[in-house]
Amino acid sequence: MTLLKEPDRGTPARTSATTVRLTVDGQPVEVPAGTSVMRAASLAGVDVPKLCATDSLEAFGSCRLCLVEIDGVRGTPASCTTPCGDGMAVTTQSDRLADLRRGVMELYISDHPLDCLTCAANGDCELQDMAGVVGLRDVRYGYAGDNHLGQEKDLSNPYFDFDPSKCIVCSRCVRACDEVQGTFALTISGRGFDSKVSPGVEESFFDSECVSCGACVQACPTATLQERKVVELGMPTRSVVTTCAYCGVGCSFKAEMRGGEVVRMVPFKDGGANEGHSCVKGRFAWGYATHAERVMSPMVRENIDDPWREVSWEEAIGYTARRLLQIQEAHGPGSIGGITSSRCTNEEVYVVQKMVRAAFGNNNVDTCARVCHSPTGYGLKQTFGTSAGTQNFASVEQSDVIVVIGANPTDGHPVFASRMKRRLRQGAKLVVVDPRRIDLVRSPHVEAQHHLQLAPGTNVAVVNAMAHVVVTEGLMDDAFVAERCEGTDEWVAFISQPENSPEAVEHITGVPASEVRAAARLYATGGNAAIYYGLGVTEHSQGSTMVMGMANLAMATGNIGREGVGVNPLRGQNNVQGSCDMGSFPHELPGYRHVSDDAVRTVFETLWGRTILAEPGLRIPNMFDAAIDGTFRGIYIQGEDLAQSDPNTQHVLRALRAMDLVVVQDLFLNETAKLAHVFLPGTSFLEKDGTFTNAERRISRVRKVMEPLAGLADWEVTMQLAQALGYPMHYSHPSEIMEEIARLTPTFHGVTYEKLERLGSIQWPCNDAAPEGTPTMHVGSFVRGKGKFYLTEYVATSERSTSRFPLLLTTGRVLYQYNVGTQTRRTSNLAWQAEDRLDIHPDDAEDRGIKDGDWVGVTSRAGDMVLRAVVSKRMTPGVVYTTFHFPESGVNLVTTENSDWATNCPEYKVTAVEVVRVGQPEAWQARIRAERSAQRSPALPTT
Ligand code: SF4
Ligand code: SF4
Ligand code: SF4
Ligand code: FES
Repeated sequence: MTLLKEPDRGTPARTSATTVRLTVDGQPVEVPAGTSVMRAASLAGVDVPKLCATDSLEAFGSCRLCLVEIDGVRGTPASCTTPCGDGMAVTTQSDRLADLRRGVMELYISDHPLDCLTCAANGDCELQDMAGVVGLRDVRYGYAGDNHLGQEKDLSNPYFDFDPSKCIVCSRCVRACDEVQGTFALTISGRGFDSKVSPGVEESFFDSECVSCGACVQACPTATLQERKVVELGMPTRSVVTTCAYCGVGCSFKAEMRGGEVVRMVPFKDGGANEGHSCVKGRFAWGYATHAERVMSPMVRENIDDPWREVSWEEAIGYTARRLLQIQEAHGPGSIGGITSSRCTNEEVYVVQKMVRAAFGNNNVDTCARVCHSPTGYGLKQTFGTSAGTQNFASVEQSDVIVVIGANPTDGHPVFASRMKRRLRQGAKLVVVDPRRIDLVRSPHVEAQHHLQLAPGTNVAVVNAMAHVVVTEGLMDDAFVAERCEGTDEWVAFISQPENSPEAVEHITGVPASEVRAAARLYATGGNAAIYYGLGVTEHSQGSTMVMGMANLAMATGNIGREGVGVNPLRGQNNVQGSCDMGSFPHELPGYRHVSDDAVRTVFETLWGRTILAEPGLRIPNMFDAAIDGTFRGIYIQGEDLAQSDPNTQHVLRALRAMDLVVVQDLFLNETAKLAHVFLPGTSFLEKDGTFTNAERRISRVRKVMEPLAGLADWEVTMQLAQALGYPMHYSHPSEIMEEIARLTPTFHGVTYEKLERLGSIQWPCNDAAPEGTPTMHVGSFVRGKGKFYLTEYVATSERSTSRFPLLLTTGRVLYQYNVGTQTRRTSNLAWQAEDRLDIHPDDAEDRGIKDGDWVGVTSRAGDMVLRAVVSKRMTPGVVYTTFHFPESGVNLVTTENSDWATNCPEYKVTAVEVVRVGQPEAWQARIRAERSAQRSPALPTT
C-alpha cells in the first residue's frame, strides 16, 4: 500500500454542452467550454507549475508561476485564469517562461525559512516541489533584507498549527474557508509586504469564527497550516480509503498512516458524499479509537454490583449463550432480544438481526433508529413507497428553493451544510422552519428569506398551513398530481378546510400567517424546491404525520422525481439508513419487507434454515415495559447506550435492572454497561471491514486500517455467539455477508464488493433495472406506483406548557460533540464544548433571575437535571434548548415517555419544564462528573 495522491488539475472542472479544442505543447485536447488552460494542460498530460491554484478552488491568479505563451496572444497570461479558446496553441515551456518562473520562485524563497530538512511538510510541500520544477538553484537577493521569518506561531487550535513565517500569501486557505467551507473566517489583512493571513480580526484560530473543518489546512501548499499529528509523527507513508463513522453525511476519507498509526484523515476527492471536504469530527476527532479507556478484554459478572472479571472471548461467548438459553427455557422464546447499532456496518447489523430471528427464534430486534428516524421510514414508505430520502446530496446544487425543517445542518451535517450554503450563495432561496434561530438563518452571505419560528410540537400545523395555501391559491401542479398521485380528492378537501389555514393556526404555531403564506408561495412557485429535515421533524408525537405532511406538500407541487427537489432526511448516525435497510425493526426483514409476508419469509427461511415468526417482535420501549413486567429478561445490545440515549432514564434504568442478563458490546464502559452482566469489546471504524449507507442511500466501503484491537471483529463475535446458541453461521469475510444480503434483498441485488471497488460507492436501489445505483428516486413513477396523499390532521401533543411547567424544552446537537458523546468526549473536541448547557431567551432568564453561566435546575413531570445556562436570543421566548452529549447532564431524566403514534419514536423535542436558578449541580450529577475517570463504577441514580 502506498500513499494515494489524487491528481490536482489546478482549477475546478466545468460542465458545458459545448467543447473547445486546443493544443498544449503540441498535444491535442478537447475540454468543456470555460475550462482553464491550466486544467486543459493537465488533462493533456502537461503539468504547468502553480502555487496559488488548486482544483478545489476557483482560480485567483496571484502567484504568476503558471504563465504560458499562447500563439497570437501578447505577453504571458496566467494559465489558471485564462479560459481555453477553440484552436488555441499553448506553449508551457520556453526559455522566457523558465526565466520568469525562476524569478517568481526566487522572491518566494528569499522570504521563506530554509529549514526544509526539518520541516514537518518536507516531501509534501508545493513550494519545495515548485523550486525543483522551475530549476531554482540560487537566490540572488539573499535573506538579509526585510522578511517575515521568525513570526510567532498560532498553536491555539488543538489539531493544527499556524506558522505565518512560512506563509506565501497565496490565499488558498482564505478561499477554501470561503468557497468550500462557507465560514469566511479568514482574511488577508494588510497590503503588499504587510499582507498576512488573519483569522477574524487579528484573533487566534481558536477564538475566531473558525469551525476547525481543516479545509484551509488541506489547501495550504506549504507547512504554514499543518496538522499537529504530522508534526508529532512525521509524514504518512500509506493510505486506506474509508468512510467517516460520525454523521449520516458519510464522508469518504483517506486514512493516512505511518506504520500502524493514523497520522491524519484527508477527505477523499472522489468521495461521492463529500468530494474532498470534511468537518472537524471526521478529519480530526478520531483519537477515541485508541483512547486509554477502550476496553480490550471481554468481561463478565454475575450481578451488576459485582466487580468485572476479565475473561477470554470463548468464556464470554459461552457464558452469554448459556445464560440466554437458560432464560428462554425458563421464560419462553420471546423473553430475550437484541439491539443493533447505527454505528456498525451493514454486515454487522445484518448478522445481529439474523441471529435474533434465526437463533433467538423471535423478532425482538430493534435499533437506535427507533429513537430518531423511524417516522421517516414509516412516513416515506406510506406516501412514496420506500423508506429513504429521495435525492443525492449533489441534487441541492440544482435547487432554487431550499426548505430546512427541524434540522441544524451546520452543526449536525456540516459537510452537506457547506454544499447547501454554496448553492444559497449562488442565489437559491431559503426557508427555515425551526423554533431556534439556527446559524443558517443568518450567516456570512446567507440569509433565510423566511424563518418560521414555530412553537415546538406544531410542525404538522405549519406544514398543513403551507399545503392549504398551495391548494387554495391554485399553486398545485395539477398535471403532476393527476398523472402520478392518488388519494388527491380527499386530501384536497381536507387540507382546504379553513381550520388548516395559516390564519387559523397562527395562535397555535406562533408563526405569522403572512410568513407561512409567503413561504408556501415561494416553495410552490420558486422553481426546483427541496425539503431537508432532521430530528426536529421526527422526534415528536406526530413525527410520522409530519413526514407524510412534507411528502404531501412535495407531491402537490410536483417537487419530486428529478434533481433539485425531493424530501430528504438528514440522518443522524453514520449508518442509520443502513441499520434500517438491514431489517433491524421488529416488523421488517431486510429491505423493509413485513414479517407477516409469507412469500418473503419463505425466501429467508429457505436460506437461513429456520422458521421465522410471522408476528412482529418487541420495540425498544415495549422491551422495557416487558422487562419491568418480568416477561423480557435478557438483551444483547450492540453499540447503543440505551441508558443515556433513551427517554425517561428512570424507566430505562428500572427496566435494565429488572433483566437477568444485559450484554453490552461497545468500545467503552458506557452508562448502559454499568448495568450489564457481560461486556464484549467492540471495534472502532478504523478496525472495521464492511459498508455504511449514508443519508443519500449511498453504500460506501469501510476499510480496516488496523486489526481489531480486542482480537475479533464485531461480526465474528455475533457469528460465534449464534454458533454457541446452536445456530450455524459461517462467514469468512464481510463480503460474503453482503453476498447474502444482495441475494435476499431486491434493492441490493446488484451490490457487490467488486462493484463498490469499481464505482467507489453505490446508491440503492441497485439491481438489474439500475445496475449502477439510483441517485434520484421516484423518477417517472413512485416506488409504490402512485404517490399517495395521506390526511395529516394536526393533533396537539399532550405535552403542553402549564403554570407548573411553563417552558418547552427541545433538544439538539452541537458541531463538536456527537450523539451521546461516547466518541467525541474522548477527543480534543472537549476544548470547544465540555458540557451540555441550557439555552434560554433573555426574557425568560430575566423573569427567573438567571444570568449567563448560572447553574439552573430543569424540572419536568418525569424528573430533573441541573446544567449551566446560556442566555441567548437564538431562542424564542417560552422555549429552552439543550444537547444530550454528556451523561452528567442527564437530559433524558427530564424527557417523557410520550412518543410518535406510529413508531414509538420518543417525543424528545417537546418537554414542558420549569427552570430555576440553583446553587450547584444535583448530587448525582456531581458524582458522575467525579467518577468520569473511574469508568467502571456504577454511577447512575438508583430508582
Ligand atoms: S479550519 Fe475551516 S473554518 Fe477554520 S479557518 Fe480553516 S477553512 Fe475556515
Ligand atoms: S497559510 Fe498557506 S494557504 Fe494560506 S496564504 Fe499562507 S501559504 Fe497560502
Ligand atoms: S460531515 Fe459527518 S460524515 Fe462528514 S466528516 Fe463530518 S461527521 Fe464525518
Ligand atoms: S497558479 Fe496561476 S497565478 Fe498562481
